This record gives sequence, structure tokens and C-alpha cells, in this order.
Amino acid sequence: MSASRIGFSAPSNIALIKYWGKGLDQTPKNASLSFSLKNSVTKTYLDYQEKIKGEPQFNFSFEGKSERSFHPKIEKLFQYAFELYPHLKGYSYKIESENTFPHSTGIASSASSMAALSLCLTTLAKNLNEPLVADHFTASASYLARLGSGSAGRSVYGGFTLWGTHEQVAGSNNKYAIDINASIHPELKKLGDTILIVSSEAKSLSSSDGHKLMNENPYAVTRFLQANLLISEMMGALKSGDMEKLGLLIEKEALGLHALMMLSQPPHILLKPNSLKLIELIQTFRRESKLPLYFTIDAGPNIHLIYPLGLKAKVEAFIQERCLPYLEKGFYIHDEIGEGPTCL
Ligand code: PMV
Repeated sequence: MSASRIGFSAPSNIALIKYWGKGLDQTPKNASLSFSLKNSVTKTYLDYQEKIKGEPQFNFSFEGKSERSFHPKIEKLFQYAFELYPHLKGYSYKIESENTFPHSTGIASSASSMAALSLCLTTLAKNLNEPLVADHFTASASYLARLGSGSAGRSVYGGFTLWGTHEQVAGSNNKYAIDINASIHPELKKLGDTILIVSSEAKSLSSSDGHKLMNENPYAVTRFLQANLLISEMMGALKSGDMEKLGLLIEKEALGLHALMMLSQPPHILLKPNSLKLIELIQTFRRESKLPLYFTIDAGPNIHLIYPLGLKAKVEAFIQERCLPYLEKGFYIHDEIGEGPTCL
């Protein structure tokens, strides 16, 4: 086979119920549920050719520059890919990647980047007639992506996704994420996610260190049970189109995640004073306006506003009128539920 190229664009996603705590090989301790974003994507091209002895296995550049700091994660993904699909070892690779969103803004680039590269590698495995690891292509790409970064397993789909075994969700499992869009009320399929940037400093707690902290957290067992219960409740709200119930559940979950971090050893407080100020503003605005505007937060200080997309102009006015003083350089990013990866 001569040199060839495969390209994919894959979205980041925002978890409404978070994956926080894992076993070996990214086996999650509870199921997580997310939606994929539309504008925040990683575009990756994988060029491959038969490997000449002694040649490096891969060469990676991010936004036109060789980026050594990404190598360990990519190397790990390739190791997993070689175990699953041994024929991939016979090639050398050039990977070119770029993000459509800025770094350290509360948008998970590991999810989109690992998903994009996994889609490329799974395509190549399929083209080489390797038996795929799951019974269809997207599930197989999710399987590989999850080995690279747990949340990336959810980024191979559009709309809503669930990853992790949950007794009430048919087909759910720990090995790959599944598409749950058939269980979502049409009105909840168009949600906005506007990210209010409180700080763009690099995260003070990496997600891999965060997952490890759950091994010793005294509330861990309760948390894992609680997350699965929240999923049951959330699936009900998603099915019936109950935005208020959904919104209150996502806030409970986000604050619960941060409470867990505060109760870890050593304790971590990832929220900043301005994150708390924004939470207060959102809750006051909701009370006053009676509009369904809610928040979620990942493992960092930035706030994701979640709302029916039809409210975007009102959310914009709320940010302009009340939130700007609390944002880093007045910075925020509008995004929304997206349709998932595309082949480039
Ligand atoms: O995929 P990881 O290992 O980076 O963990 C993701 C952790 C959270 O973003 C906090 C939650 C989630 O489910 O996306």
C-alpha cells in the first residue's frame, strides 16, 4: 500500500453526569452522560506509509508545530491501537492536528483529539481488514478513543451519548460509549452551551490525577451509586423533555463533583471566587426571569451555561449586562449540541 491519508474532525463534549474515578484501562466507576459540541472540534489528518526499519513510528504536529508535550498520550493511544490491530504496526505515521477552540478554556481537547485520531486509526484498521474490536465501526472507534482518554469515547457520536454500564440503559457498557439520541425528547436536542471563561490558566489538577484521588476518597462508593441514580433521573427528564428537571440535575451533579474534589486528600478547590459569583448570578437571573438557564462545570473554574438554543439572544444579553466583569478579559465562547464527527 502506498502513502495515504485519512482525516477526521471530532467534537469535544460536555458531560452532564461526569466520569470521575476509574479502574484499569479507563474502566469507569460510574456511567457518564454528555452531549457533543458543534463548534469546538479537533481536525486530524493521519498520513501513513509502510514503515522502513529504524524509522520513527510517528511524527506529530499541532497547529503546524512539533508538539512534544502531546507525545506521551499519542504514544499510549498507538500502543493500544497496535494491541487491538497488529497490522497497524507495519506503518509509520505523520499526524497533523488543529483545534477550532482555544486551550485551557474548559473545553476538553483531549476528548476531541483522541476521538479524531481514533477514528482515523480505526478506519485504517478496517481498510486493512482487521477484525474490529466492537460490532460496528463507531463503537470500535469509541473503544479505542476511551483507552486514550475516557471522555473521548463519547466524542465519536453526535448529540447525546452515554458511556459506562447502567442497568436501565440497554446496550450500555464500560468498553465503549453508545448513542442515546433515540431516547431524547426533540425539544432537548437543541441546547446551547456557552462557556464563561473565568480563567484560562492551565488546570491545577489534571484529570488523571483527579481520577486517582477518587481511589482514596471516603465518599467514593456513595458517589458512584449517586451518579448512576442521577443518570436514571436524567434519562427520565431527557425523555419527557423536562428542561427544569434536567437543569437542576446538572447543577447538582456539577456541584457534587466539586464537593468531591474539596473532600479529596489533598483537598482541591478548583472554583475561583468569580466562578461562585457567576453561579450566584445565574441562579438569581433564573429566579427573576423564570428562564431555563442552568450551569455545569468540569474539573476547572469555567462555567458552562446550558439552555434551550432559542434563548441564545437572552443569554447573550444576560452575559453582556451582568457577567462581563467576572470573565477573564470579558471572554466567553458560544457553542451548542453538534452532529458529531465528519470525515475530512
Ligand atoms: O477523559 P478524562 O480522563 O480527561 O476525564 C474527564 C473528566 C471530566 O471532564 C471532569 C468529566 C467528563 O466526564 O468529561
